[in-house]
Amino acid sequence: MKYPFQRLFLICTGERCNDDKRGKDRGEEIRAELKELNKKLGRKGTVRVCAVSCLDLCEVGPNMVVQPGGTAYSHLDRKSARAVYDAEMGEGPPRPDLEFDPDDLAAARRK
Ligand code: FES
Repeated sequence: MKYPFQRLFLICTGERCNDDKRGKDRGEEIRAELKELNKKLGRKGTVRVCAVSCLDLCEVGPNMVVQPGGTAYSHLDRKSARAVYDAEMGEGPPRPDLEFDPDDLAAARRK
């Protein structure tokens, strides 16, 4: 049986994405804000905003993966995460500019 939700936002709240140095733009704050938004929009029963402990893309965090489809987004802050939410829900323009870039990750890992 398929997972009974329309969409799943998996937001990393792992140590590096949630680094205190990011202030209000760290993973846990991003998750809390989107979770509250999702609830306010009455989507709690159809759309889930969940925390994950690590997506193994730590160098380019904060990160998020959206299901179905599995698109990953990197270098997020609260504003860009909201833009991803809107885009993925069909309520904003697509944001390919915020998608995870494997070359960016490879470069970050070489540093
Ligand atoms: S801590 Fe977020 S991807 Fe690893």
